Amino acid sequence: MQIAIMGFGTIGSGVAELLMKNKKSIVAKSTQNSLDIKYILDIRDFSDHEFGEYFTKDFNDILNDANVGIVVECMGGTSPAYEYVSSCLKAGKSVVSSNKELVAAKGYELLELAKENNVNFLFEASVGGGIPIIRPISQCLAANEICEIAGILNGTTNFILTKMIEEGMAFEDALKLAQDNGYAERDPSADILGHDAARKICILASLCFGKHVYPDVVETTGITEITPEDVAYAKNWGGVIKLIGRAIQNDNGKIIITVGPSLIQNHCQLASVDDVFNAILVRGDAIGDVVFYGKGAGKLPTASAVVADVIDCAKHTAKRKAFGWGPCEDDYVIAPNLNSGALYVRAQTDDYIAAFNAINKAFDAPAILHRDDEPKTEIAFITPVMREKEAREVIEKLPIDVKATLRVLDY
Ligand code: HSE
Repeated sequence: MQIAIMGFGTIGSGVAELLMKNKKSIVAKSTQNSLDIKYILDIRDFSDHEFGEYFTKDFNDILNDANVGIVVECMGGTSPAYEYVSSCLKAGKSVVSSNKELVAAKGYELLELAKENNVNFLFEASVGGGIPIIRPISQCLAANEICEIAGILNGTTNFILTKMIEEGMAFEDALKLAQDNGYAERDPSADILGHDAARKICILASLCFGKHVYPDVVETTGITEITPEDVAYAKNWGGVIKLIGRAIQNDNGKIIITVGPSLIQNHCQLASVDDVFNAILVRGDAIGDVVFYGKGAGKLPTASAVVADVIDCAKHTAKRKAFGWGPCEDDYVIAPNLNSGALYVRAQTDDYIAAFNAINKAFDAPAILHRDDEPKTEIAFITPVMREKEAREVIEKLPIDVKATLRVLDY
């Protein structure tokens, strides 16, 4: 069977490298007689590259070659990736994609196209890099009703936060290091503003709860507003700040979905997930909590997930794998503030005692936080667990100038 790779960036080159390196065992596991790269599509010139013979700049070479049965899409973005992937599926070729932007935006349509054409559209690498998560949710955890899924879904921001917290590194230096390591997106604002994590939690929510969830309905906050003061308060409280993507299904079948920096206590399972590592916690009615952990970005970890999908496609040529979710539904996603939880608040005040008294009067046993060298003009606290909407209404009326509000989570 012949394979084409579209996009020869960090992931695409890793896929080619891994297919060559472990060729013998990969072919054996694929149940095919052979698995050979026929084309690599990239608009850049790689004629001097060791894989130079495979390169083409013309997508039609791939589309019109009936011997190419599996196409790997690692181009990123939605256009022309969507057009190319659609054409390949319509031409009866299975497609493997690492492209979370594409899957979050067009997953339902592409899964339907794959079904119509009896081919596979698989995207294990689109969430969590090398961590197995799509297949475990759709297969191993299939007996569960999943009520909640949450995780550290972006390696770049977790790497930056870890370097800032553990090594006191400046934000820009940590970002540069993440880029040098091939973790960051071409435009790293997608990482640091939370959009990459939002795409990933949409894919997971669609898979867990059965209807497509689009990124524009996700309340998304990145890590750019996190200050050393917040980090210090979290540390003194016995926790850390992590960028968490989460999706919850309530008893009425509605979804709450958010991405944002959140406080979690050190004993929680996601608290010790550092550097480029990701972790995803799935809460099922039979399994309880299960956590998947591993490298969430990088060349070979991500290629590992892509090549596993290639093997799966090769094993399911005659009959496609039954896999997918339904279309999006109106009013499926509801406001996150309808959920209950605790909030961390950091604020400025001219009168600490008055602020302290007002906070204690307004809330039932709030936790007042402290940090080293805390000025008298600053106060930080954690509300009790309550309906978020009500907590925010109370906070608004307090005689303080709120500078930061973060969710406190228990994963
Ligand atoms: N930029 C992404 C991250 C790459 O840092 O997690 C993996 O999806």
